[in-house]
Amino acid sequence: MSIHISADGRRFQLDTRDTSYQFHADKYGVLAHDYYGKRIPFEDLTDGEFFADVGFSGNPWDAGEERTYSLDTRLQEFPGYGCGDYRESAVSLAFSNGSQAADFRYESCKVMDRAWTIPGLPALWDTEEAPAQTLVVTLKERASNIRLQLSYAVFEAENVIARSARIVNDGAEAVYVERCLSCCVDYGFGDYELMIFPGRHCMERVPQRQSVGFTKQEVYSLRGASSHQMNPAMLLCRPDTTETQGECWGYCLAYSGSFIGSAQKDQRGQTRVVMGINPAQFSWRLQPGDSFDAPQAILSYSAAGFERLSHQYHDILRNHMCRGQWVHKPKPVVVNTWEAAYFNFDRETVMRLTKDAAKVGADMLVLDDGWFGHRDSDTSSLGDWYENTKKLGGTLASLSNAVHDEGLLFGLWVEPEMISEDSDLYRAHPEWALAIEGRPPVRSRCQLVLDMSRKDVRDYLFGRLSAILSGARIEYVKWDFNRSVCEMWSHLPGARQGETAHRWMLGVYELFERVTAAFPELLIENCSGGGGRFDAGMLYYSPQIWCSDNTDAVNRLDIQYGTSFFYPMSAVAAHVSVCPNHQTGRTVPLMTRTRVAMTGAFGYELDLGKLKEPERAQIARDIQAYKAREELFREGRYHRLTKPGERYAAWMYVSENRDKALLNVVMREAEGNAMPVKVPLRGLLPEASYRCSLTGAVHSGAVWMACGLTLPVIYWQYESETVEFERVQRG
Ligand code: GLA
Repeated sequence: MSIHISADGRRFQLDTRDTSYQFHADKYGVLAHDYYGKRIPFEDLTDGEFFADVGFSGNPWDAGEERTYSLDTRLQEFPGYGCGDYRESAVSLAFSNGSQAADFRYESCKVMDRAWTIPGLPALWDTEEAPAQTLVVTLKERASNIRLQLSYAVFEAENVIARSARIVNDGAEAVYVERCLSCCVDYGFGDYELMIFPGRHCMERVPQRQSVGFTKQEVYSLRGASSHQMNPAMLLCRPDTTETQGECWGYCLAYSGSFIGSAQKDQRGQTRVVMGINPAQFSWRLQPGDSFDAPQAILSYSAAGFERLSHQYHDILRNHMCRGQWVHKPKPVVVNTWEAAYFNFDRETVMRLTKDAAKVGADMLVLDDGWFGHRDSDTSSLGDWYENTKKLGGTLASLSNAVHDEGLLFGLWVEPEMISEDSDLYRAHPEWALAIEGRPPVRSRCQLVLDMSRKDVRDYLFGRLSAILSGARIEYVKWDFNRSVCEMWSHLPGARQGETAHRWMLGVYELFERVTAAFPELLIENCSGGGGRFDAGMLYYSPQIWCSDNTDAVNRLDIQYGTSFFYPMSAVAAHVSVCPNHQTGRTVPLMTRTRVAMTGAFGYELDLGKLKEPERAQIARDIQAYKAREELFREGRYHRLTKPGERYAAWMYVSENRDKALLNVVMREAEGNAMPVKVPLRGLLPEASYRCSLTGAVHSGAVWMACGLTLPVIYWQYESETVEFERVQRG
């Protein structure tokens, strides 16, 4: 049993295999947070609470003259705005008399023997055979008939607690939800650091670590998408936490729209962490009888450093967020037309690329941007999802048949949420684009964004997508999203603009849901100018995501390093491209580019016909090598052995049963008279013996992990090595 409730029904403990989370309803019914950390027995922790005179902090009315009780210093589960807690709040309501407040007090609790689901939003799923438990705590607002349901879905084996919040209007008049975050966790004492994952287009998720102080550290997106600029995941840790030791707490939001996450110390040095939908541009009218659901925040804790935390996230996201048949199946090795031809292709080009792809043993040809409307550049045709039969030399159906005739599967690029002003769709429906009435809209990549909060828009898109997908043999779709949203303003009569941003996101999810339900066999690769929507929410609809538009292997080392803190390698799409690289101009040996791209979703983004024969032969061998190890890349444990900035980068995959491991090393910096490269391994069974493919040496896992592998060669810059370790019986 993972949920414990005290006999008086007011104290709760959520236990996972290695962690515990405790809170209680105090004498005033305030939900007070007690503990989140290493697993502990279920005991009353009230004696650990600290009450002292807190002048200038305010005492709730019902505390009478008890000046030591203040919401402003209390550790809380879901603090409300405007009721004496001056710190960051989790919830705020606006009432018809102009007031803004939210004072929720405990009412009841219930335990559900399944995971919590959220209508219209992605959420971790469980199965009947292996159910998760959910604790639902209901609170009532003191001055109104508004209820708050806090849900805690406990995934015991994965050490994960997924939180969400629902606000229900049981009153007789409308109320406005001005803020409803997904979680708040208060830490009673100690110093912390926050690791965040900022970036930019072509350089996503490069971790930064900074101490938590008295100024608020806030990560956010206001771009309508989770964004390249800041990922909706962050972790709090102790100052001395490393990959393999120390405490850390992960916060990962299953939401692909504008969000916030913050950490800040209060006057007592207590640290408050919150995460949820960005309250800016947000005001949700809740009519009597209606409810509002916040997206899910996925929390996890590790007492053994970042690596353990990452493994917990990899497991939960791969096994309980990703859906569909492709999650645990070998994914096709693709050849994508984008960096091979950009917009400049015709049927002959596509067929030439297909034949070359077939010769090297790839599984799929992906036709990227440029196949529809009159799109020969990024200035037109988005929204006109009709194939350009002139450019394709026939219909999509005939082209997909021709590709299949060469023995390859066929994939197609789409960007459903976008509209070009130069499109028949825009000419027919200018009101379908987001734009503030009376103001010219902000363009980005010469395009506008469709109003996904509108059902007519979603119906049109579903109609076009399903016609395309059922009209040709298409096994894969690369679903792109190539700009940030600016004007969250809907032309729909009666639209409440404070709701548009979230309704827009719900509309996007609904379209994904309709497409995945109608085409359950389809493999969807999510993309947003590379990794601009690489988030847990999108993994619910697509088990893999194009990690970055930057295919430079050396930059990818850092991008994939940062991505791996929360997201499983099975979700990371990475391709080998040509040199000099189109984004950085760098030249890196083919073997290194290949090793870096060997993740859970591997492929090529180049014109094989322009390579020399030995390179093509090398690629054919690499694809075979990849396929032989594909399961290890997809399902294996991923270990970060170095950090960005070190002389070399090293990472390894270890099979689930720990019989096999694969180590990759890339030299970032060459030095004259270089010191040897010595890599301590991780993840092996200490007592088992492993043979090294490079030297033939056999050692126990304990020795490999303590003493490391000394690579016997000195490498040039950007050269690399793959070393495999196989478990052997020692005679
Ligand atoms: C985005 C994607 C690229 C490519 C282009 C096409 O930038 O990330 O991979 O599909 O769009 O326009």
